[in-house]
Amino acid sequence: MRRMSFARRVLVQLAHPVLERSRVNRRLIAAVRDLPGVTLHDLYERYPAFDIDVRREQALLLEHDVIVFQHPFYWYSTPAILKEWQDLVLEHGWAYGKGGTRLHGKLTCNAITTGGPATAYQHDGRNRFTMRELLAPWDQTAFLCGMRFLAPLVVHGSFRLGSDEDVAPHAELYRRALLALRDDTLDLSRAQQASYLQDALPPAPSSTPATAAKEQP
Ligand SMILES: Cc1cc2nc3c(=O)[nH]c(=O)nc-3n(C[C@H](O)[C@H](O)[C@H](O)COP(=O)(O)O)c2cc1C
Repeated sequence: MRRMSFARRVLVQLAHPVLERSRVNRRLIAAVRDLPGVTLHDLYERYPAFDIDVRREQALLLEHDVIVFQHPFYWYSTPAILKEWQDLVLEHGWAYGKGGTRLHGKLTCNAITTGGPATAYQHDGRNRFTMRELLAPWDQTAFLCGMRFLAPLVVHGSFRLGSDEDVAPHAELYRRALLALRDDTLDLSRAQQASYLQDALPPAPSSTPATAAKEQP
């Protein structure tokens, strides 16, 4: 079979400990599952006992140009397996430090769902910090590894999103974001500077507003 070629190969590292009970992440994944040039990797499914295969994970990273970490926001951070993944996979001499250049030039971002609304993630909001500020360890980790850290794609207010119809506009944005990353149609400096990746997407072919995912009533 002939392999299709794309500007960039995209890897989605999904981390949700109970995907069968997910309302939002499950639907986001369903919206991008069929995209050619995008590899989906479910970390909890693959490593239910956290027995992460470091060599396999490193090989996956090498095979892709864009690494997207998709996860619900847990305690202003990620589900535990992503921390374990970082601790084991990003080895000294491989990902950083002397000779650690294997990830240089790759793009990376987080695709996150939060229970809290967008207004809570502002300086005068309940959570006091912006999403970008809370993601500083991911930003700096990417920097240390020579990767370009892009703004996160965030779906806020997940508790209000119960149905397929509720999640559909966010799923559509996620699909557009992965396509833009894959096809190199994203303004990368804008995507690095923006608060949210959805604000840096090229115009939608339809009338979907680019900021829909972060607006909550
Ligand atoms: C252990 C745990 C910690 C959570 N911490 C946060 C948090 O820090 N901020 C927040 O906005 N939501 C938090 N939530 C809510 C989740 O982010 C929310 O349930 C999830 O994004 C919904 O996505 P899903 O439908 O795919 O599960 C937390 C939920 C759990 C179970």
